[in-house]
Amino acid sequence: MTPLFQLHNLSKCFGATTAIGNVNLNIARGEIIALIGSSGSGKTTLLKLINGQHIADEGDVTLAGKKITEQSNKELRRARSEIAYIPQDLGLVKSLKVFQNIFLGKVGRISTLKMLKHFIFPPKNELLTVHKILQRVGIDDKLYHYTANLSGGQQQRVALARSIYQGAQTILADEPISAVDPARARSLIKLLIEISQEHKLTLIMSIHNIELAQEFFPRLVGLKEGEILFDKTTVSQTELDELYQLSNKQLTQ
Ligand SMILES: Nc1ncnc2c1ncn2[C@@H]1O[C@H](COP(=O)(O)OP(=O)(O)OP(=O)(O)O)[C@@H](O)[C@H]1O
Ligand SMILES: [Mg+2]
Repeated sequence: MTPLFQLHNLSKCFGATTAIGNVNLNIARGEIIALIGSSGSGKTTLLKLINGQHIADEGDVTLAGKKITEQSNKELRRARSEIAYIPQDLGLVKSLKVFQNIFLGKVGRISTLKMLKHFIFPPKNELLTVHKILQRVGIDDKLYHYTANLSGGQQQRVALARSIYQGAQTILADEPISAVDPARARSLIKLLIEISQEHKLTLIMSIHNIELAQEFFPRLVGLKEGEILFDKTTVSQTELDELYQLSNKQLTQ
């Protein structure tokens, strides 16, 4: 079967920095993948290349058999509406209520005017859908709360709820657990994976916590200085040491 995403000889530079260098990766529909590697190794850049937010300098990203650069605007819009990207800072509008942030998951699918209407007069059926999703992520009592008043862990659940409401087939999550304590980080990852399995979603998540990555993710992709160091089910301590070892170049920076 054609992989959902095929990354072929992918490279992306920012000035003199090679953020991603010659990456090849095939990702099948429904795969659950952890992207690991030290700060600056290229995890966010890779997620943004998959998402179409960054355009590669060299190589290409193929989505369901067709290169992103060869897709029409309409095809690209449709493809992107099926990808939920949870950024490092979660991308929530803190001044909005929880249900309004979740409605934003459908931005681009419905008109701005309709979205504004929904903000002010939320349709009952949509609220019911959002309420059910919030139940699933464990914060249904927060439906009408202002997002700014939620804890970091609760806000992460709002971001996850927004991806589910969006109807995404793929979740690209960029270290969404950095701001919470270890117990909450663990329970959020568990939830993310359970929901991905329930809905048969593809999940690619960048994560710094190696213990959690090894415990929950069946495929670990290790990035070092923009290149793939390993792509495996389990990794040894030696491989991890190599992944996080500073290069001579980094030691002199
Ligand atoms: N927009 C940008 N402009 C200039 N350089 C950038 C830009 N985005 C990323 N870089 C550089 O590319 C490299 C990879 O950055 P990236 O953000 O992908 O790393 P990361 O693995 O996500 O790091 P972290 O774990 O800290 O989030 C870094 O050297 C970074 O400074
Ligand atoms: Mg990053």
